[in-house]
Amino acid sequence: MSTISLTPLGFAQQEMAEVVDLYISNPEYCRAAGEYDPDRFPADQAEADLREEAAVDGAEVMLARDARGRSVGLLSLLDRHPTDGFPWIGLLLVHGRQHRQGIGSQLAEAVEERFRSRGHDGLRLAVLESTPAALDFWTSLGWREIARRPDVQHGRPCIVMHKPLT
Ligand SMILES: CC(C)(COP(=O)(O)OP(=O)(O)OC[C@H]1O[C@@H](n2cnc3c(N)ncnc32)[C@H](O)[C@@H]1OP(=O)(O)O)[C@@H](O)C(=O)NCCC(=O)NCCS
Repeated sequence: MSTISLTPLGFAQQEMAEVVDLYISNPEYCRAAGEYDPDRFPADQAEADLREEAAVDGAEVMLARDARGRSVGLLSLLDRHPTDGFPWIGLLLVHGRQHRQGIGSQLAEAVEERFRSRGHDGLRLAVLESTPAALDFWTSLGWREIARRPDVQHGRPCIVMHKPLT
């Protein structure tokens, strides 16, 4: 498996083109999430949303690159959720041409290690009920459902997952 590096998204034009490519390589996810139409991808809106996300205190949006420098994933993290105090994964997206090659697992592991090394004992995220493959992915990595509720931003049915970091 190649080494993956994570760098904060700088919003340069080239990086944003890579981000758009990451999203449109996942048309099923885009349709299930309902935020961006993959056939008429709203690049400006996606950039504005990511800028807003990255500007939140304690939030980070990162691009994952493989050893050859190709962008293979997009990650959004929050180090302290305002309600439960746990760090959260807001988004983990792997390029569609590279699914099922262990990249998602590698990124999830890197995130776990990042928060474990900072002394956190648990990590959370919400999976859309409309993305059962994502639920299978997180479940295969030892995450467990702890609640079901709509997401605050869009009211979409979600499954809240928790992973102990001890
Ligand atoms: C979900 C996602 C991140 C998985 O990334 P990935 O790099 O393909 O995952 P991995 O190769 O590390 O898969 C690890 C394991 O997860 C499970 N898994 C992954 N994708 C799966 C799928 N589509 N269906 C069922 N199980 C799946 C399998 O057990 C897999 O192991 P295996 O390939 O040996 O069977 C990727 O499909 C993706 O970006 N999807 C669109 C965005 C999304 O839904 N993100 C999650 C937001 S909460």
